[in-house]
This record gives sequence, structure tokens and C-alpha cells, in this order.
Amino acid sequence: MPTTQSIPRAGSAPIRQVRPGSAPGAPLPPRTASPAVSTSAPQAVPEGVPAPENVFEVSDLSVSYGSTVAVRDVSLGIGRNRITAMIGPSGCGKTSVLRCFNRMNDLIDIARVEGEVRYHGHDLYASSVDPVEVRRRIGMVFQKPNPFPKSIFDNVAYGPRITGMTRDRSAIAEIVETSLRKAALWEEVKDRLTDTATGMSGGQQQRLCIARALATDPDVLLMDEPCSALDPIATARIEELMQQLRTEYSIVIVTHNMQQAARVSERTAFFTAEVDPVTESRVGLLVEYGDTATIFSNPSDERTENYVTGRFG
Ligand SMILES: Nc1ncnc2c1ncn2[C@@H]1O[C@H](COP(=O)(O)OP(=O)(O)OP(=O)(O)O)[C@@H](O)[C@H]1O
Ligand SMILES: [Mg+2]
Repeated sequence: MPTTQSIPRAGSAPIRQVRPGSAPGAPLPPRTASPAVSTSAPQAVPEGVPAPENVFEVSDLSVSYGSTVAVRDVSLGIGRNRITAMIGPSGCGKTSVLRCFNRMNDLIDIARVEGEVRYHGHDLYASSVDPVEVRRRIGMVFQKPNPFPKSIFDNVAYGPRITGMTRDRSAIAEIVETSLRKAALWEEVKDRLTDTATGMSGGQQQRLCIARALATDPDVLLMDEPCSALDPIATARIEELMQQLRTEYSIVIVTHNMQQAARVSERTAFFTAEVDPVTESRVGLLVEYGDTATIFSNPSDERTENYVTGRFG
């Protein structure tokens, strides 16, 4: 495996300059199925050495837009096959941090990322890493369901087709079925796969987006407020689905719904935004990170307690 390098620090070239196609092959480890119980380890790890428990290790991560720092100095580890929640008031940088996990910030011209994100021990921002491969392995689901104006089948087949996973029609059909089954949608749509996806209910559309993300065989799912546009029943279905997916995927969810964070996640990161005394602008920071039960029932920081008890003001 090629050696990895740190993300450029302040003053050096912004990482967004690394564009799809500009880098040689992706030195990322192969996907490992159910790593918690698997004995297989990523390629770079010598045999006999247990795979690291965290899928991501984040160190001193900061995200700026233009000259404004949005979130600063975030360090945390994201557990494999766990559900990790990121909570905090609007504007504290949750989405900005989440986008660092699959290099979506690369797509924002003025975004600049500093610090380090390691994925299975590999520098996600190394110049040799292909961001397209990163997004194939680390899928993302957004706040508003965003199916393409195509058929249900073509939505799910889209990723495997454009990434060249296979051109074989029956293999694609199999991937579509498997992904829809994993997203708990198959039984509802199996007889109308050629219907346009935009005609589905909001909850179905969001599960379709999850199926679409799963179709490229990722090992991480990033979910940015995936239920905020859904009613309680559709929300409950997504939460139930997350629990099923957890055995095979590592999931990071941003949510404004604290009950949801408490229900679904094992670990919770609480972010807030404070005025920087030097720049006098608001900047996001990670206040506390730990077991969800502790964050909600016995947080160590008063700011966390004020937020989770609704006294935030
Ligand atoms: N594309 C962008 N261009 C410029 N500034 C941005 C961009 N995206 C986010 N920001 C700024 O970065 C800061 C953090 O935004 P971010 O969306 O990460 O917060 P958030 O915690 O996800 O908020 P919310 O809960 O409202 O979704 C905000 O001040 C926001 O205005
Ligand atoms: Mg957000």
C-alpha cells in the first residue's frame, strides 16, 4: 500500500484541489463485511493484527468557508458497526464535519478542510486517494429525500452503473434487489420497479435513497437529518432499518431530534457554536463525545447538560 500523508495544514493548498480523476488509484482497504465479527482485516494491516475498532479517526479537524472558520479542532473516533450521532444547535458545524467523512466538502469551492481524517487507518485526503472511490465506499443520505427523476430500478442501479461495478444486467438486477431488501423496501416496490421514483411517499423515497447508497457496496453510511422531512411512522421505519443495517455498516447520523439520537445511537457527539474572542465570529466546536447514555443522563460539560435538558439558550 502506498504511504499516506497528512491533510495540509493552515497555509498550504486546500484539499479541494484534489479532483476526481487527478489522482492515481485508490489505496483504500477492501470492504470488510461485518468487521465486528469478521477475522478479515484491511489489506494494509499485517496478518494477525486485529483491525482497528474505529472506522474513522479524526484529529484536529477544522472546516472553513472562505475566510470564516465554521468548526474548529474536532478530534474523535467513529466506531465500526456502530451508530454514532452528532447533535447540537443549528450552525454548529455538524453537516460540515459529516461532509469531511466522504470528502463532500471537496465539491464546495470555498470550503477548506484542515486536520486529519483516517479511514481504516488511511489518510482519506491523501493525494493518491480517489474521492469518487471514497464516496462509493462512504455513502450519504440527505435531509430531503433526493431520488433522481428515473425509475425505482434505475435509481438503485445508478451507482453500480456509473462506477463500472458491473455491466451485466442480471448482476445489476441482483444488486438492485439486494439493496432494496436491505433498505426494507423490496416488498413494497418489487412489482413496480419501472415506476418513477418521485411518485413514492417521502418515507419510501428516503429508503430508496438508502438503497441507492447501499448499492455501491459501502461500509459507512452518513445520514444528515434523514428523518427531518418524514412523519413519525416513516421515521420509526428508518430508525428500525438503521438498527438492521448496523450489523453490516458503520453509521453516522446528524439529528436535531434528541430522542432519536438517544434511541438509535451508541455514541453521541455534542457540538455547539461559540463566539471566538479573537475573531468575534461564531465557530463550531465539539464539546463532548461519549456513550449516548452518558451524554444524555450524566454529561460532564454544563453546555451539554443545558442542551440535552432543553435549557440551551
Ligand atoms: N456551503 C457553504 N458555504 C458557506 N458557508 C457554509 C456552507 N455550509 C455551511 N456553511 C456555514 O458553516 C457553518 C456551519 O454550518 P453547518 O451546515 O455545518 O451547520 P449544522 O450544524 O449542520 O447546522 P444545521 O443544524 O442548521 O444543519 C454555518 O455558519 C454555515 O453558514
Ligand atoms: Mg446541517
